[in-house]
Amino acid sequence: MANLKLIATLLLLALAASSARAQLSDNFYSSSCPNALAKVKEVVGTWISSDSTLAPSLLRLHFHDCWIRGCDGSVLLDTANGEKSAFGNVNSLRGFEVIDDIKTQVEALCPGVVSCSDILATAARDGMVQFSGAAINWAVQTGRRDGVVSSASEANADLPPPFSNFNSLVSNFQNKGFTSREMIVLSGSHTVGRSHCSTIQSRLYNFSSTASTDPSMDSPPSQRL
Ligand code: HEM
Repeated sequence: MANLKLIATLLLLALAASSARAQLSDNFYSSSCPNALAKVKEVVGTWISSDSTLAPSLLRLHFHDCWIRGCDGSVLLDTANGEKSAFGNVNSLRGFEVIDDIKTQVEALCPGVVSCSDILATAARDGMVQFSGAAINWAVQTGRRDGVVSSASEANADLPPPFSNFNSLVSNFQNKGFTSREMIVLSGSHTVGRSHCSTIQSRLYNFSSTASTDPSMDSPPSQRL
């Protein structure tokens, strides 16, 4: 559980730091849309009650948003050759319908006030709080401004590829201002969620002429001495 708290703390610091350059605050919408954050929590709660797997998916959506141009909602844009169509996003990023639903309901409260990037950042947190029974939580400041540019080629260049080795992951995170320790801790987010077989299959079966599985992987717990 200590690791989960560390992950939460780092998420707070790290993803806030990589937000689009905006003046974030604890109470950004307190006068312009006082019920916005309660509405985000309520709508996320409804979705996660019917499909809890959406919680990790929203966390990943938030990470992939922040990695390209900061946390500016650029991953949500439906533009030609946008981030949604990048190799690491297409057919695997989930949760867009949750953000669309929240945005619709928040717009009904306060038209044109709350940014999509703030909705995504708070929804990712609220989802994990509910999913974990409040074992995971972190503070989210608001005041992000939405970007208008979304580029698949930028996402292809910047998102960490699933087949990266340790050194290239360290380098990928260093390029965004993170230490190797922070990269390792943030990778602990993979204690929740799911992955397509294609990202791991080649290390599990027919790995090489001498080993059917990649010998550098830990064996399953039942096979450990
Ligand atoms: C260190 C570099 C990273 C790599 C190479 C990586 C790669 C991946 C891959 C390949 C998947 C499976 C996607 C699929 O097949 O659908 C995945 C899932 C996931 N990743 Fe990462 N990731 C990284 C960092 C992170 C970070 C920093 C976070 C959060 C802060 C994160 C959160 C997640 C979550 C929650 C899932 C599960 C998504 C779901 O269930 O829909 N990842 N990641």
